[in-house]
Amino acid sequence: THIDWDVTMVDKGGYPHFMLKEINEQGAVLRNSMAKRLAEGTVDLSAELPWTKKDVASWKRLHIVACGTSYYAALVAERFLETITDFDIRVDVASEYRYRNIPLGPDTLAVFVSQSGETADTLAAERIAREKGARCLAVTNVIGSTIAREVHDVLQLKAGPEIGVAATKTFMGQMAVLYLLAIHLAKMQGKLTPEQEKKYCDELTALPYKLESVLLRQESLQETAMLYNEARDFLFLGRGISYPVALEGALKLKEISYVHAEAYAAGEMKHGPIALLDPRVPVVVISPKDGLHEKTFSNILEAKARKSPVIAIATEGDDSLDGTADHIFFVPETLDQFTPFLTVAPLQLFSYFFARFLGCHIDQPRNLAKSVTVE
Ligand code: G6P
Repeated sequence: THIDWDVTMVDKGGYPHFMLKEINEQGAVLRNSMAKRLAEGTVDLSAELPWTKKDVASWKRLHIVACGTSYYAALVAERFLETITDFDIRVDVASEYRYRNIPLGPDTLAVFVSQSGETADTLAAERIAREKGARCLAVTNVIGSTIAREVHDVLQLKAGPEIGVAATKTFMGQMAVLYLLAIHLAKMQGKLTPEQEKKYCDELTALPYKLESVLLRQESLQETAMLYNEARDFLFLGRGISYPVALEGALKLKEISYVHAEAYAAGEMKHGPIALLDPRVPVVVISPKDGLHEKTFSNILEAKARKSPVIAIATEGDDSLDGTADHIFFVPETLDQFTPFLTVAPLQLFSYFFARFLGCHIDQPRNLAKSVTVE
């Protein structure tokens, strides 16, 4: 069933802003996204996706196309998909994808990620891909949206209505649904053993609790955000799967606080942004304990050598940053490929508290729209 809703039916549930309410709903969003799709150590999307093994085998390419925050969710998912499936993967922003001459056809599964299902560029990109014979799947929060009506297949986010213009809980829902899709596809390609699948499913099931333990400690982020309220430039750094998290963290800060924030792949820091660093430019480093941790740590040392304050997001139990980073926010341990579910929440909260301190219109930032229906 599909229930129509409008903004007047939704209230802030005691929170001062929808954004804070929505950030705090993210544990439930993860649970809802997984309900009826993941059970007893296995993922089953066959109720929503009528694909046979033969269909999946016919797709060599996997394209994921989106805008804004949805694009960053796609970039996170790309890094999981490329480790567990066999596809030739490409992820692009819709406004570029639609104007390029990208090879695609019936051998392509094209996934369009759009919270609203109404973003003009994403819709145009979908029409092009469908015209060229690709199988088109929409990942959207709005089941009656234009994109949902046009594509072959739909996966719904189940995040509930998101009112804050800056997307938070739908980013979480998008990652969850794309990870389930990755597992579903890997299984159909015969690329995943039942043991591997169970390992992923067990961790996905644990994530809402881990995320809620992060949300419970939000006050310390408020303190950190207040300490840096005079900063007007921020650099966000991350490597591997933490790079799109850095992009999303910087986007959140720009959108709601109007302060300049730039994200870089940590390894690219030497190729430009390091010139910006001085004590007035805080560096936010997403540095969970994963295979790239040591590399990112060397970037923290470089930032400290330029006297930039460093705010690090790290894994509980990791004491390697003690005495180096100025502030460390710890998140629970998880699989390397699952860290974005936990590392993005402190960045959302940091932006929220930062913007609130500046007195910004958090739920409706200037110049921005919840859904961009014109080009
Ligand atoms: C606008 C919104 C963003 C959103 C982007 C893509 O810029 O303000 O929050 O990420 O559009 O929207 P979509 O509905 O396609 O995910």
